[in-house]
Amino acid sequence: MKHATHCVAEQYQEMYRQSLEDPDGFWLDQAERLDWFKQPALGGEWSFDPASISWFADGSLNLCHNAVDRHLGTRGGDTAIIFEPDDPETAGRTLTYRELHAEVVRMANAMKAMGVAKGDRVTLYMPMIIEGVTAMLACARIGAVHSVVFGGFSPEALAGRIEDCGSRFVITADEGLRGSKRVPLKANVDAALAELDHETPLDGMLVVQHTGAAIEMTEGRDHWLHEIASDNDCPCEVMAAEDPLFILYTSGSTGKPKGVLHTTGGYGVWTATTFNYVFDYQPGEVYWCTADIGWVTGHSYIVYGPLMNGATSVVFEGVPNYPDHGRFWDVVDKHKVNILYTAPTAIRALMREGDEFVTSRDRSSLRLLGSVGEPINPEAWRWYHDVVGAGRCPIVDTWWQTETGGVMITTLPAAHDMKPGSAGLPFFGIQPQLVDNDGAVLEGAVEGNLCITASWPGQARSIYGDHERFEQTYFSTYTGKYFTGDGCKRDEDGYYWITGRVDDVINVSGHRMGTAEVESALVLHDLVAEAAVVGYPHDIKGQGIYCYVTLNAGIDGSDELYKALRAHVRKEIGPIATPDHIQFTDGLPKTRSGKIMRRILRKVAENDYGSLGDTSTLADPSLVDRLIEGRQNR
Ligand code: WTA
Repeated sequence: MKHATHCVAEQYQEMYRQSLEDPDGFWLDQAERLDWFKQPALGGEWSFDPASISWFADGSLNLCHNAVDRHLGTRGGDTAIIFEPDDPETAGRTLTYRELHAEVVRMANAMKAMGVAKGDRVTLYMPMIIEGVTAMLACARIGAVHSVVFGGFSPEALAGRIEDCGSRFVITADEGLRGSKRVPLKANVDAALAELDHETPLDGMLVVQHTGAAIEMTEGRDHWLHEIASDNDCPCEVMAAEDPLFILYTSGSTGKPKGVLHTTGGYGVWTATTFNYVFDYQPGEVYWCTADIGWVTGHSYIVYGPLMNGATSVVFEGVPNYPDHGRFWDVVDKHKVNILYTAPTAIRALMREGDEFVTSRDRSSLRLLGSVGEPINPEAWRWYHDVVGAGRCPIVDTWWQTETGGVMITTLPAAHDMKPGSAGLPFFGIQPQLVDNDGAVLEGAVEGNLCITASWPGQARSIYGDHERFEQTYFSTYTGKYFTGDGCKRDEDGYYWITGRVDDVINVSGHRMGTAEVESALVLHDLVAEAAVVGYPHDIKGQGIYCYVTLNAGIDGSDELYKALRAHVRKEIGPIATPDHIQFTDGLPKTRSGKIMRRILRKVAENDYGSLGDTSTLADPSLVDRLIEGRQNR
């Protein structure tokens, strides 16, 4: 599909060539889009074996300065943030860069008053309100390391994330709102703290008054933002380029979620540069990314990328289907949104409700559409293009990950033709490689495991507190390469088509989830003996969560227990991890050495029995028939 122009395509090719030939020169040039206290002379210094990554190491800067203060002289009166509340009848808010500066300073002063200092980890458990953004920026301002935990995670999940990074401070709100439902954030933090062993697990908690609900405050520890905030001068800390900026927990194929660590300079350059090119942002345009700040998309493309570019970024508290399925398009019309960046799961859910919700709204402000988080099926792509964008707006399908910091593979709106379902071509500096399971490099139009062979500035530097796990997870499968965990096809035009995860991570409504996490939650239940969890195709969510559960001797899988187990997983992890189906079984397919054969479980969940492969190595081959029978009786 064409929207691109020839000359820009050539320019892209030339820039891409330069970025590979002279990465340091290229990225030091791009680094000039930021304000540095000390301009870097060093580019990338890195190795993938062993993993050690640094960019712009001799430079110093502050990303809050770059996202806020630096704009005050030239565009202090321009709109930085448009806040659109959950309930459209409630008044929203618009902040200019000058007003954003004032709010960030107040937040930063409140944090300092609680005792937060440079290098401290601060956990944010926030609704999608302006204070979520100002809390992130305030951390960056004073050199604290933010760890944002999605407001939909349970107290148990929050507790683990507070403990893992040794965070002594939490910023939260009384309550959040989503589709008119109240989320008891402050009470959840209290419940999380009760899970932790220490008697005084926190030094301070800052609470934003949002809904005005009555909540309990612990004297001496909990503070209302409006009571301790002040307008005192609060300069930006000078940060070395490799000082940590944030930790963000994400799921892997094994074990607990890992705290992906990003640093300041490289992440700043990467998000500022990708935002600029991928969205082709023009001054004055209104940009809306519908993600939550609890995910990396929110970090890079609601907060840092747009604000470092002086853009107007919409912060939306609500959901796509409240008050009705036309809400997205109401927001587009109300704020004259030019660029919309959302996830395939939202597109599919809205598509199901019919075109009328879309076509009854104007949408003529839209210029560019973006997709992120999971593969977009061509049918949803076409609906997004033809109905939402009325055939006028190019789509950028951006492939990237928490670990990559920002967009890695995409088409650029002015430079490339689009292919529905394909993310497109590598961004500047990105060298994708497809390898087979033995690590042999595959050339030409093929399908394989997606690796990246050279570092880029936005790359994660480590897993917080566990560099060995970082090495192990990303650099040990194919020595000397960053392994993404994704399968991918390359076509004859060099376009990349992500096929989904090839590890035990599943992607449910664009949320990354480790099957191991859901399994651990299930086996915590008293009546569960063993659990194995796999993903299976789901019309709206992309993948659904399919659980095989064996129960303790003498226990039957009743409807009641089915419901109890679903509720149990919600409580342990959060609503996004709620199993779509639980199949009770008398055993799991294991090899004689006791290894669960997940391939079989995946096939059965997919209702695909023709290609079960060799089942003769199973300890109990007859189990397969019983699994299939159980699946069909669903
Ligand atoms: C998947 C989200 C296909 C992929 C930014 C990746 C995608 C995982 C796309 C990372 C896309 C993300 N097309 N798949 N455009 N974007 N993915 O860390 O499997 O939450 O590995 O980062 O989402 O999820 P994460």
